[in-house]
Amino acid sequence: MFVQRTLRQAIKAHSAISSSSSSSSATYSAKLLFSRFYSAASATAPLDASKLEIKASKNSKSLQENSQLVFGKTFTDNMLTVEWEAGKGWGTPVIKEYGKLQLDPSAVVFHYAFECFEGMKAYKDKDGKTRLFRPDMNMKRFNRSANRIALPSFEGEELTKLISEFLKVDDRWIPKGRGYSLYLRPTMIGTQESLGVGASNKAMIFVIASPVGPYFPSGFNAVNLLATSENVRAWPGGTGDAKVGGNYAPCIRPQLDANKEGYQQNLWLFGEDHQVTEVGTMNCFVFWKNEQGETELATPQLDGSILPGVTRDSILALARQWGEFKVSERKFTMKDIVKADKEGRIIEMFGAGTACIVCPIKKIHYDGLDINVPLDPSDKTSQAGKLTKRINDAIMDIQYGDVEGPKGWSVVVKAAGAAPNAGEMGGEKARDLAARAAPDATTEAYEKGSLEGGDANEGDDDDDSDGDDMGVEFVEDAGEDDTEEDADDDAEDAEEGEDDRAGKEGNGGTGGTANS
Ligand SMILES: Cc1ncc(COP(=O)(O)O)c(C=O)c1O
Repeated sequence: MFVQRTLRQAIKAHSAISSSSSSSSATYSAKLLFSRFYSAASATAPLDASKLEIKASKNSKSLQENSQLVFGKTFTDNMLTVEWEAGKGWGTPVIKEYGKLQLDPSAVVFHYAFECFEGMKAYKDKDGKTRLFRPDMNMKRFNRSANRIALPSFEGEELTKLISEFLKVDDRWIPKGRGYSLYLRPTMIGTQESLGVGASNKAMIFVIASPVGPYFPSGFNAVNLLATSENVRAWPGGTGDAKVGGNYAPCIRPQLDANKEGYQQNLWLFGEDHQVTEVGTMNCFVFWKNEQGETELATPQLDGSILPGVTRDSILALARQWGEFKVSERKFTMKDIVKADKEGRIIEMFGAGTACIVCPIKKIHYDGLDINVPLDPSDKTSQAGKLTKRINDAIMDIQYGDVEGPKGWSVVVKAAGAAPNAGEMGGEKARDLAARAAPDATTEAYEKGSLEGGDANEGDDDDDSDGDDMGVEFVEDAGEDDTEEDADDDAEDAEEGEDDRAGKEGNGGTGGTANS
């Protein structure tokens, strides 16, 4: 009775606030309130990091030399898993030895692509501390992606805590040195064993990690793009703004075709007017003099078909903070690019994403025409424009903790040991297990701690510049560089020995599409 009444009150409050208020934070609070009552009413267990069990691997695989790292080929000793069931909620999170999943062949992930994932990195700073970059944004996007395919929502902050614990256990795998990082792949799949097409009543989150090197191991290498309109990556109302696996496989055939013609990536167009949308699996930026003669950094607006990249958002925020030129999220078409090229107004173009940060563009093939995009006119040998390089350095400085950066961007995962609320597994036991799993970790690494530099949900009010708020709480019990695999060979053919772009040199390279 009480729950029903309070739930009704929460719904009323939510509707009142969301219809009258112009404040996104008020709307967000109402949604959160609603979701909490909803959770209470449905009485399912939330994702809870304090339930973590650490059953770390007793076998320490040997580490690879930094120079030998190939994107997404080597994985750490352990993985994180947690299962969900409709009516019950989230189960016990476990850190256990990296290994194969056992799933029934009828599991819905195999048939209807119930899969979403994230791509994020952990960095070692010069003091040996581990840092995450804006994990709250990855968690929100992960939740939005899950919601889009009717998979369960979860508390982002709790998953960030769990990932932090995972990082402590596999600390020795985080490569040191600027440009090196541990790539994290949080993934959610629907595991219901049924061929019925409907919401999955079972799901699993797993997180695996792979040490990676710089995307451009020997300096930038600008890419050639094939502007593609006959195949479309995404469309308004589709799933382009969600990081669901189903978006990626259909892009590989067009990418292979582009590779065969000597282009590393597709420039994805949309609509009769050939709007520019994304580059491979990166967001697309153009720096130019616009038709009004203003110097402008422009990227397509988030219209539902563009993935709201963490890097994209960070670039926009930094460029706005610099205040030196106009910064726009708006539509632009190939006609605009061709005209700007003819009038000599393009200054630089680049793709942006976690794997590379920025990827300079040097040529676009469109409609039988080659558009040569300037790099750095003051340095003929340079493979990246001045702004592209500046953005890269600014973001890297923050990721590696060399520069403070906006609040909550660089989140330090404190030294290994259980999180303050790591329940039964806290204290001695967790430290012992972590010590066994991470023999190389320093004594300092066993200090107790969890996150500093911002609560994972803290930024909710201010970092939704993509205009997309949580929007994921209402689906409880509703019952995320990029298939970085082996397009290597074709990509290499496409390179025609011309450069040593990532994926070819193999360090940070994704081997397939440019980013992840
Ligand atoms: C399609 C697509 N666009 C853009 C991005 C860049 O996003 P982020 O900056 O969060 O890595 C990615 C990678 O996640 C992507 O897969």
